[in-house]
Amino acid sequence: MTILDAYRITREPFYRPVGREIELFEAAYASRMPVMLKGPTGCGKTRFVEHMAWRLGRPLVTVSCHEDMTASDLVGRFLLDAEGTVWHDGPLTLAVREGAICYLDEIVEARQDTTVVIHSLTDDRRILPLEKKNEVVTAHADFQVVISYNPGYQSVLKDLKESTKQRFGALAFAYPSPAVETEIVMREAGVERRMAETLVRIAERSRNLKGHGLEEGASTRMLVNAGLLVARGVPVEEACQVAMVVPITDDPDLREALSGAIAACL
Ligand SMILES: Nc1ncnc2c1ncn2[C@@H]1O[C@H](COP(=O)(O)OP(=O)(O)OP(=O)(O)O)[C@@H](O)[C@H]1O
Ligand SMILES: [Mg+2]
Repeated sequence: MTILDAYRITREPFYRPVGREIELFEAAYASRMPVMLKGPTGCGKTRFVEHMAWRLGRPLVTVSCHEDMTASDLVGRFLLDAEGTVWHDGPLTLAVREGAICYLDEIVEARQDTTVVIHSLTDDRRILPLEKKNEVVTAHADFQVVISYNPGYQSVLKDLKESTKQRFGALAFAYPSPAVETEIVMREAGVERRMAETLVRIAERSRNLKGHGLEEGASTRMLVNAGLLVARGVPVEEACQVAMVVPITDDPDLREALSGAIAACL
């Protein structure tokens, strides 16, 4: 029993490979190279890292990064209890000690002075200094850092430092080809092939509106959501409105364009 048993993934998370990402991740992990997963929202990055943690038999510690996150939130802090002040490891330190994969989701949301705490872990030193505790933790042999990054969403002010980026190997994710996406929707939503194909066609049209008023087209996640509603008996058109139109735009013209695309595909 270790403290990280709760973070072990015991059942295989379904992941349909899109390219050579599984082989590439395995090769990177074999060298304990830090990996960056780049790609738009809802394209399978989180599912992929869960699948890889399961495949490699490593616990997965996920941290959702945000603006107010401090280095102490990652590394740990002294807290007061009945016996006085006691050190509590943060999630990063736990992963470093126990040999987990530490997944820092949406890393660009964290401030740069927080992000730099991973620098000594992501070069050949593989150490984590706990300054407040006067301790330097050497990373467990199985420890690896994985980060996710949505290119295009951030401003210049909210980007990773060059010295952070250059520590990582990066895998680029995009929405899968129609054939692969159909398989994913069938499996994840439990709908028949014809229905999955229809939803995928609607998504393609929605993605064509990217840059024409839409920040981003419908993601694979949205397609799966539409499929889940259909599988519960919601009529397709309504399911698409709820899962693929209303969440992404309030603009009446765009809603109409998307509704037209849906009608054309049914
Ligand atoms: N290749 C794939 N294999 C299996 N399921 C997938 C795949 N790609 C996407 N999915 C489905 O899409 C959903 C969303 O994927 P996921 O949560 O991994 O997206 P993400 O890239 O992490 O998005 P975000 O950047 O918003 O966190 C998953 O829950 C899963 O149902
Ligand atoms: Mg994610």
